[in-house]
Amino acid sequence: MTDAWVVNPAGPLRGDVHVRGSKNAVTKHLVAAMLGRTPSVISNSPEVGDVSITTSMLEALGCGVEIDTGDGAEGTSVTVDPTSIDNSRVPLRFSGLNRIPILMVGPLLHRVGEAFVPLVGGDDIGSRPIDFHVDALSKMGAEINITSEGLEAKATRLHGAHITLPYPSVGATETVLLTATLAEGRTVLDGAATEPEVVELALFLQRMGARIEMRPNRRFIIDGVDELTGAVHKLKGDRIEAFSYLVAGLITGGEVRVHGCSQERLVTAISTLHGMGARFDINDTSVATWADSLTATAVETDTHPGFMTDWQSPMVALFTQCEGLSVMYETVYENRFTYVPALNKMGAQIEMYNTPLGSIDSRFVGSDTPCSVVVRGGAPLQGTDVHVPDIRGGFAYVLAAAAAEGTTTITGTHHLDRGYNRPIENFRALGLDIERVSVPTPAD
Ligand code: EPU
Repeated sequence: MTDAWVVNPAGPLRGDVHVRGSKNAVTKHLVAAMLGRTPSVISNSPEVGDVSITTSMLEALGCGVEIDTGDGAEGTSVTVDPTSIDNSRVPLRFSGLNRIPILMVGPLLHRVGEAFVPLVGGDDIGSRPIDFHVDALSKMGAEINITSEGLEAKATRLHGAHITLPYPSVGATETVLLTATLAEGRTVLDGAATEPEVVELALFLQRMGARIEMRPNRRFIIDGVDELTGAVHKLKGDRIEAFSYLVAGLITGGEVRVHGCSQERLVTAISTLHGMGARFDINDTSVATWADSLTATAVETDTHPGFMTDWQSPMVALFTQCEGLSVMYETVYENRFTYVPALNKMGAQIEMYNTPLGSIDSRFVGSDTPCSVVVRGGAPLQGTDVHVPDIRGGFAYVLAAAAAEGTTTITGTHHLDRGYNRPIENFRALGLDIERVSVPTPAD
């Protein structure tokens, strides 16, 4: 038996959603806590599977972890005490669960001089190599050996280096930040990612005592220090969840107000929706949107401040209910349209192409996976059985199901549990008829 979500459309979704700290920041802060000589406290943490996976890995390394789920304004608080780290190996049972083990290599080298991390996981949305991480760690003095099970590293003392990333990778930027803070001397990082979650991590490290400068043109300069202390931080709101719930209102002809994620983090999402005809009411703590009708548009995903790749699948779900032909061109990941056939099974009219339908040069020339889709809006959707391929694709199914006729049964929801804070509760508060049930495991 396996978990499934059963969705029965219930008309326009209306109401308020409070988002917590972002999935893609909380785990990195937990890793940063490994570098302190005193405990750190991360509050406003979302209740997501990725936090449980990461805290279990930290415990396996010898960290003390306390999770306080108090329902106060600060949300869940996670305290990490790194003083007792005594193990350099992240156990193999964590293989393939998420992308976090590779970020632990630098901190482990600083704390215990060696590291083993199992092969990274995360969603199946392209090949997701770790070459940028490995090159950066090697430049900073780590000796690295990749085995069939994972990555082994050793270093007596890591040192600063001049590193230029071939693409502004979020994870590789985080690896450099986490490693350079305690390395000997100066690290200059060019071609860095500047996503809000990366900047949030850099600020947390600065709070711990790191000497980090942010320069124009994607450059970070980090001067290594001898020690860092623990720090306290309240996470900023999850912009992926925030956008996804705003779309839940729009796709059903309703109106959702999202609290807890600042306008600044949503600027490109708001301007794109604005261009399609959505109307907004924005204040210091919340963003609400609704529309009389929405028109088609063309969007290409990009690094920050572009339209983020994690907003892509909710947007394509929304395109299915807009007037006219819309285009989505994915430039960050090689294979991020695996959810599209299921939307077509629900009645959407989406064609996939492996030619770039946008202005950004493709990094995946010659790939046989589609990088663009053209969506003919307005086709009625029908509920059916669908299986989630990845976390963001899975949310698009819930959105489509909410706008469809009839019941949709969604399996593979463990992907959604890894990254969304209390989604069933949130959707119910908006009026959706959604419940979690147990169903026989579908045959692959
Ligand atoms: N890349 C390489 N080599 C590397 C690292 C990355 O070629 O060593 C390539 C990737 O294959 C990809 C591109 O660089 O084509 C960007 O990848 P990036 O490293 O930026 O992604 P990530 O750090 O693995 C994080 C988020 C993703 C989010 C991306 C982009 C986490 C845990 N994951 O991934 O989130 O899409 O940044 O913003 O922070 C999600 O939440 O659904 C998700 C996939």
